[in-house]
Amino acid sequence: MIDKRKMKLDERQLALSIAFQPIVLSPVLVTPRNAKRTVLHEQYGQKLIINPELSRSLISFQANKSIPYYRWLKYKEAFSSEFVLYILSKFKAPNFAARVLDPFAGAGTTLTTATRNGCQATGIELLPVGTAAIRARLYADTVDISKFQRYLRRLEEYSFEPPRKNPYKFPHLRITRNAFSASTEKALSGYFAFLNTIENQDVRFLFWFACLTILEEVSYTRKDGQYLRWDPRSGKSLNSHFTKGPVLPFRPTILRKLHLMLDDIARRKGETLSRNVHIIEGSCLRELPRISDGSFDLVITSPPYCNRYDYTRTYALELAFLDYSEESTKELRQSLLSATVENKTKRELLAEHYRTIDKQTSYAAAIDAFRMQGALHEVLGILYEARDAGKLNNNNIPSMVENYFFEMNLIVHELARVLSPGGHVVMVNDNVQFYGEEIPVDLILSDLARRAGLPIDCIWVLSRGKGNSSQQMGIHGRNEIRKCVYVWSKPTTHQN
Ligand SMILES: C[S@@+](CC[C@H](N)C(=O)[O-])C[C@H]1O[C@@H](n2cnc3c(N)ncnc32)[C@H](O)[C@@H]1O
Repeated sequence: MIDKRKMKLDERQLALSIAFQPIVLSPVLVTPRNAKRTVLHEQYGQKLIINPELSRSLISFQANKSIPYYRWLKYKEAFSSEFVLYILSKFKAPNFAARVLDPFAGAGTTLTTATRNGCQATGIELLPVGTAAIRARLYADTVDISKFQRYLRRLEEYSFEPPRKNPYKFPHLRITRNAFSASTEKALSGYFAFLNTIENQDVRFLFWFACLTILEEVSYTRKDGQYLRWDPRSGKSLNSHFTKGPVLPFRPTILRKLHLMLDDIARRKGETLSRNVHIIEGSCLRELPRISDGSFDLVITSPPYCNRYDYTRTYALELAFLDYSEESTKELRQSLLSATVENKTKRELLAEHYRTIDKQTSYAAAIDAFRMQGALHEVLGILYEARDAGKLNNNNIPSMVENYFFEMNLIVHELARVLSPGGHVVMVNDNVQFYGEEIPVDLILSDLARRAGLPIDCIWVLSRGKGNSSQQMGIHGRNEIRKCVYVWSKPTTHQN
């Protein structure tokens, strides 16, 4: 059956693609090294379109910093609520309660922005830091403001002295030891004693969450790219000359955060943020195959990038706070989408999982598409050869890249299946480069999506800043590490 609301959207969106400028790719010397990637560029180059409406701050956490609720936790890997609004304005028909999915939900930006705008939203997220942020927004919906205020007033009068008997000790992991000064450790212990006096469940959760959000600020560490950087005041012997600047004292920092949360909650005025949010705590690699066909109208997501970024290292303080042990942190790292050099292949486990839930046919179809992706295997060949010649700075880079695409390919195939006809997938991701070899993540994943039944509408490319014309893009063309938003659409039944 033809869905007229969605047809209207298709037309609107087509007009949109035409309005933006396509990128003119510069001619490239074709060599046996890049022949397959060149074919891919020729095949899909015209889908790369600069979208001047998308800025880097919109696609990063930056734009969330001043937005109520989203500003509670600095989740640097998030995109902004404004970005989700932009996507909804393009792909959600007015007065249509779209079913939205984010399989890499992070701190839940997609979910609560979508539900606030009349959608139902489902998110899958494995990192408990993200799910805690989502849950905090759920508690903020129901918390009794006067109780929150009362406990906050009590905390303002509180001594922050830990009890003599069984005081709380921050459960450090090896890599978080010495993260806090002795006075902060003590104040943390006192704060936990205070948490135990809070009877109201919503208030207790929000006060606990507030503590999680300030750990970085009150510590000698800073989250920085792939690393947790350490200030010399921690007493660690360090090679780098990094100094953090002010390390904030615990008491005023927690009080400031709780007041900020109260300000946001007080603006609620009977509105609920999260009534239609459904959150699945687990790996989307395991959870997506269990979801029925055609369950969603719109996917808005951003997977981890293939760039060695290790969430378990960056969020080590928060994981320790969440009582993660060395062992469970390791397990978590292995379950996340492979994007670090420590990740081992999940092929056997995934094959077994698909067998157990009787989905071998979908698995086999996805594997076929993976095998046929020539440009990917061209790059992998070069990387494995460089590894064997001892030329890589880390020998696990080729397997990391291979595992990343193997897993993303399964996810793309699942998204194609769980999307309803006429639905759209919008995915934010960065291209990467290793050993001087460009990996066109955007084109490879889009080609895999097409093979899975999701033709490419367009690949929006972010311009690098003011004055970056399409000509400049053309000059830097394919060598530039593109930051993109892919738009794939599932044909409506009449298009099939
Ligand atoms: C780029 S972030 C997404 C951020 C999100 N868009 C937001 O606004 O908060 C990618 C997320 O994928 C999560 N992730 C990684 N592997 C996963 C897996 N196998 N299943 C579910 N989530 C996963 C990470 O924990 C991280 O939160």
